[in-house]
Amino acid sequence: PIIYVVTPTYRRPEMIAELTRLGQTLTMVQRVHWIVAEDSSTCTSAITNLLQRLGLPYTHLATPMPDIYRKERYVPRGVSNRRAALAWVKENGDDNGVLFFLDDDNAIDIRLFDEMRSTDKVSMWPVGLIGDYTVSSPVVNDGKVVGFYDGWPAGRKFQVDMAGFAVGVAYLKKQKKVTMPYIAGHEEDGFLKSLNLSVKDIEVRADGCTTILVWHTRTAKNPSRLLKLDHHQNDNIKLLTDN
Ligand code: UGA
Ligand code: MN
Repeated sequence: PIIYVVTPTYRRPEMIAELTRLGQTLTMVQRVHWIVAEDSSTCTSAITNLLQRLGLPYTHLATPMPDIYRKERYVPRGVSNRRAALAWVKENGDDNGVLFFLDDDNAIDIRLFDEMRSTDKVSMWPVGLIGDYTVSSPVVNDGKVVGFYDGWPAGRKFQVDMAGFAVGVAYLKKQKKVTMPYIAGHEEDGFLKSLNLSVKDIEVRADGCTTILVWHTRTAKNPSRLLKLDHHQNDNIKLLTDN
């Protein structure tokens, strides 16, 4: 089965560094289709160039966040662009395929792709370096999920991070009301609820959720002040001076 890796991204100084690192990791994986979904009204040419160089099958989308959400105190990040990617997979995805959301700043062990490739409905595994508890993971007993260990329960049915699960494309296509809410912190839970999923249906991966194969790493923000004054800069450098 092919794995559709959905990566939301947005313009800031770190963007190309993140996508170069992640894209090069993906070139080590068989049968992946990378969907780079920009939170922007146009496709950035530096990203198009990267995608062409990498040689992976890819889809490049641009779907900006509506202004009303950008003004909120807690901005729901990466929703408009993930929604566009979801629509693309529902329309074009292979029924044998698997959908996986991978944010541009995360770090992944390529063995995770072997784990998720056999996903029927939804598979799950732990995510490292996240929140107050360091790990977010389903709690497993006798091979079944019986609860969640997560630093931010927030009344969620599925207390998981975006990088902590994958979805079978055939199962996704069968669902009538698939969506992702514009509610910061509830994107994953809202999406999984919209799939009509029961906790007992979750397919456990990564040695009964005992192995960490993906990390919620975050990149420090760069100030990028100096170069703003330089009119000789090319596009490649201009991308580093955003904000
Ligand atoms: C955490 C989760 O891991 C995200 O999946 C979730 O969307 C986010 O919280 C949330 O609840 O808002 P976190 O590291 O806090 O992620 O957020 P970012 O890494 O800043 O953003 C998540 C993804 O959305 C990234 O791939 C980022 O490039 C993208 N993003 C961020 C946008 O597309 N637009 C933005 O304005 C900001
Ligand atoms: Mn992040």
